[in-house]
Amino acid sequence: MSKKRLWITRRLSDATLERAARDYDVVINHEDLPGTAEQLIAASAEFDAIIPCHSEHFSADVVAQFSDRLKIVANHSVGVDHCNLPALKDRGIAVTNTPDVLSDATAELAMLLMLGAARNAVAGDRIVRSGEWDSWSPAFMVGKQVTGSRLGIIGMGRVGRAFAAKARGFDMDIHYYNRTELPADQAHGAIYHTDVESLLGVADFLSLHCPATPETTNLMDNDRFALLPRGAVVVNSARGALVDEAALLDALKSGQVAAAGLDCFQVEPGGNPAFAAHDNIFMLPHIGSATRKTRDAMGFRALDNLDAFFAGQTPGDLL
Ligand code: DGY
Repeated sequence: MSKKRLWITRRLSDATLERAARDYDVVINHEDLPGTAEQLIAASAEFDAIIPCHSEHFSADVVAQFSDRLKIVANHSVGVDHCNLPALKDRGIAVTNTPDVLSDATAELAMLLMLGAARNAVAGDRIVRSGEWDSWSPAFMVGKQVTGSRLGIIGMGRVGRAFAAKARGFDMDIHYYNRTELPADQAHGAIYHTDVESLLGVADFLSLHCPATPETTNLMDNDRFALLPRGAVVVNSARGALVDEAALLDALKSGQVAAAGLDCFQVEPGGNPAFAAHDNIFMLPHIGSATRKTRDAMGFRALDNLDAFFAGQTPGDLL
């Protein structure tokens, strides 16, 4: 039987590409640039399957122009806000993602953001690097202690729970908001709040772990930043759409928010140029899941989904 044709839109891990080339008639975008709408539309006529990343946008308009050949979009990501799922489903195209395998890597990065923001990582690094470090004083670079502090988590899905587990290691008093309360054995001792507003009132540290949906767009706006205890630290390793960036900047300037740790932005790549002048914003370029182990696992999970689909089974991560 001839191999199914597969387009891989970005340069995935070597192990993933080797496995894909063994089992599929594969074309890889070695230029490693985000696939354009035109490329996606053309690919739908030439390939049975696409493995995209969150950098390729399957809008309703793009999907409407797809040919009937394409049968499955096996995302190399857990987030699928780049995919118009109803439009893809209406065309009979299966969609999968890669949950679980990136939870620890992303939670680990959220911990880095929280610690870095709380302990002046940006200013500290700059001062040592530039040779400006010429004195020490007890009042120098005094940050906010994470250990034993109160943490609020919005979104207790896989990554939120992995983050809570790591925060336990810092003896944090953990609170969370989620659409539904978790069974006690999954909550890592965190206290449930039935509404976001009540959670914000206790969140000396706040970490966002929910998907970007119409309901969560600008979840953190002026009104909600105002509900945090003064001097809170805000961490976003989920999606830029969750934070109204102008509101965050106002909250940082006023001291309502002491510092922020951000791995994602409303505009990516690039981020928000207005953030660059502020040492109390610790920023990383959307690298939450970027460890070798996790990249291999994401690639293999996407391929597992494809293999199941073409074997006539239901892929484990069918959305
Ligand atoms: C994800 O998997 O959603 C990460 O943001 C990387 O794409």
